[in-house]
Amino acid sequence: MALRPRLSSLRRRLLTAGAVLALTFGVAVETTAVSHAAVTGPCDIYASGGTPCVAAHSTTRALYGSYNGSLYQVRRASDNATTNIGVLSAGGYANAAAQTSFCANTSCVITVIYDQSGRGNNLTQAPAGGAAGGPDNLANAFAAPTTLNGHQAYGVYVAAGTGYRNDHTSGIATGDAAEGEYAVMDGTHTNGGCCFDYGNAETSNNDTGNGHMEAIYFGTIKVWGYGTGTGPWIMADMENGLYSGVNAGYNANDPTINHRFTTAIIKGTANQWAIRGGDAQSGGLSTFYSGARPNVSGYNPMHKEGAIILGIGGDNSKGSAGTFYEGVMTSGYPSDATENAVQANIVAAGYSTSSGSGGLTPGSRISVRATTSCCTSDYIRHDDADTKAVISAISSSSSSTDKADATWIVRAGLANSACVSFESANDPGQYLRHYNFELYIAANDGSSLFAQDATFCPTTGNSGTGTSFQSVNYAGKYIRHYDYTAYIASDGGSNAWDSATSWTDDTSWVVSAPWA
Ligand code: AHR
Ligand code: AHR
Repeated sequence: MALRPRLSSLRRRLLTAGAVLALTFGVAVETTAVSHAAVTGPCDIYASGGTPCVAAHSTTRALYGSYNGSLYQVRRASDNATTNIGVLSAGGYANAAAQTSFCANTSCVITVIYDQSGRGNNLTQAPAGGAAGGPDNLANAFAAPTTLNGHQAYGVYVAAGTGYRNDHTSGIATGDAAEGEYAVMDGTHTNGGCCFDYGNAETSNNDTGNGHMEAIYFGTIKVWGYGTGTGPWIMADMENGLYSGVNAGYNANDPTINHRFTTAIIKGTANQWAIRGGDAQSGGLSTFYSGARPNVSGYNPMHKEGAIILGIGGDNSKGSAGTFYEGVMTSGYPSDATENAVQANIVAAGYSTSSGSGGLTPGSRISVRATTSCCTSDYIRHDDADTKAVISAISSSSSSTDKADATWIVRAGLANSACVSFESANDPGQYLRHYNFELYIAANDGSSLFAQDATFCPTTGNSGTGTSFQSVNYAGKYIRHYDYTAYIASDGGSNAWDSATSWTDDTSWVVSAPWA
């Protein structure tokens, strides 16, 4: 009896996998011609504009039309071996399949993000700094899946505690010298910790004073500066201040910008700097600030030191979260026209979310409703009393806290990007995971066990209704409610919550519009 639904759901999954393969193959064939024709990278455009790249970092694609080297290095947990991930062709996309095969049956972290400019400005694990110990964590190599014109690639997923740095650079602006910076980030993965930065920082890992940094900041922290709405905002981290405009605090021209793929730009020269941004999937750039340095001692002239940071503040503050796909630093102050051409190049790269997640799109927000007759108004949620996941009734008149507790951000599965993970909408960085087969929310500790405990593969509902969520490391177990508490459970088994009574209904859920 129990075998039949499993067999048919396996058959369904195989059929779906076949369909996805066919689709991917079709797209890949179509885009081959395009990728041969489009051999201009962002750094070719900056060079033509007279402001060449002096650092060029990307885990998704080459940033020069002629670049044929390694994009990044990964290290696997099983034996600590490392390998370099290169491009499919000169100027092309990352060879993600090399990562998939190297990391099969284990987990991988990104250990090096290579500088494509030829100056050796690679990013590696950030050391301790004035604000926080170290070394920082390394990013899970599978946590930020994306596609570029249909080609699978992975960004750098920064959970709080993760950080990369280079304190010994070559050619990066120092003092008051001019530079430009852009990065492509995930506008749906940000937080209010200090400081999700990419760019110029101190070489000592310490806060050495106003004007000693010039980095892109992207997130929702309001301690120093902010703009309209609730964020995230693009701001300039100039040290002891994230500036959204000429003044500290609120600047009305810096909008909330939260495109799934967001282009963020900061540039600076003598008593002049600018914030620009746009949607990395379409359209152009807008200028949110262009003008004089802050009217506060230390920022004019600047005292840039020329280290490079990613995912942290200048003093290694590392409460921040975000996702980085690509970015560069230039020598010289790029013209708006040069940056507009770079934006067109980014749009043409065709960033998109991967679609292999059972119709659940990474980055989307959902609520998950029970289908058992007892409980059709109940949703999977956490609450502040403890970290356990439960189900409870949520309605339009529920408190905003209850609604947010019952809302999840779909993430590509931490252990398998064809599956999904669920990040709490109001506790960023906390995921639904099982432990002793009970469901909790917990902060991602970066371990492969956590990744597996937090990854669930959507299948057609075990009752025939809705969706079931199969545990990736206990394939016979699915997310279930039992006595209003959430577990992973098998259809009959040793735990009370494995009870066969109403197992099919208790493990079948309706993916619903998000309550928050
Ligand atoms: O400027 C904001 C932050 O302040 C910097 O990133 C950090 O170095 C300091 O704590
Ligand atoms: O939930 C089952 C297992 O319990 C998890 O994989 C592990 O984290 C814990 O030991």
